Amino acid sequence: MVMTTQILEGISLRNSTIERLSTKIKLLSVQPTLAVIQIGNLADSTAFIKAKKAFGDKIGARVTHTILPDKIKMDGVVALIKKLNADSSVQGILVQLPLPSHLDKHTIIDTIDPKKDVDGLTSTHTQELWEDGSDIILPATARGILALLDHYNIQVEGKKVVVVGRSTLVGKPTAIALLNRNATVIICHRGTENLKEETRRADILIVAIGKAKFINKDFVRSGQVVIDVGINITSESKPRQEVGKKSFVGDVDFEEVSKIVSAISPVPGGVGAMTVASLFENLLDIVEK
Ligand code: GUN
Repeated sequence: MVMTTQILEGISLRNSTIERLSTKIKLLSVQPTLAVIQIGNLADSTAFIKAKKAFGDKIGARVTHTILPDKIKMDGVVALIKKLNADSSVQGILVQLPLPSHLDKHTIIDTIDPKKDVDGLTSTHTQELWEDGSDIILPATARGILALLDHYNIQVEGKKVVVVGRSTLVGKPTAIALLNRNATVIICHRGTENLKEETRRADILIVAIGKAKFINKDFVRSGQVVIDVGINITSESKPRQEVGKKSFVGDVDFEEVSKIVSAISPVPGGVGAMTVASLFENLLDIVEK
């Protein structure tokens, strides 16, 4: 029997999202505007923001980008956010993470008006997620993962989902969102004993740890769905992996793992493609409220 592995492509799904969101925006009386604040000039952050701007251009949303110096003090950041909170031409505000270490992330995030919190990271939205509320703005990566699973009709209810990684931006919100959808969720991290045993237990394995090709054939078994959230810059140069001037690999060793499991999301072109799309889905949800 020849076993074929399904590739969970984010690109085609992103393209259909572009069409759907552009159509919606054409019918609106206002142009949706996302204000992105970058503090410092981390190359990765600059690249991610560039991708957001490009997506905004494609769908007809406006994306403004303010770069603040990395030595800026809290009051400077807070003042800018308050100004954007009060600006009725701005519907979504995003502070690109990570922040320089002298800044207090929680205070900064919670200065964003929850009604404009397109990232779903303010306490208001975190609490909604925690309580499985009805007014949820899910962090974009988690929403992108759910969109990919939904698109390929991968059922999560009752399934064993193992999430490797417990970041505030990805691991934790994804785990809770899946729990809210009645999955049985296990969260693994660097302190987990017998990680390979845990990951092999999964029906759906989601990896978000930021370690290139960490999950190899020893961590998986046949029949699994593997979602690779990693975006790791590599010196390996493969034409297919060129994005701008950089190449990326996931947290999963695609070559090895794709020979074993039933479905896998590629890097690039999997979750990453959906993350930006989901951010703008959040923006449109806010605008339409
Ligand atoms: N840095 C990397 N991903 C993200 C994201 O989804 N939101 C924010 N605010 N910063 C990020």
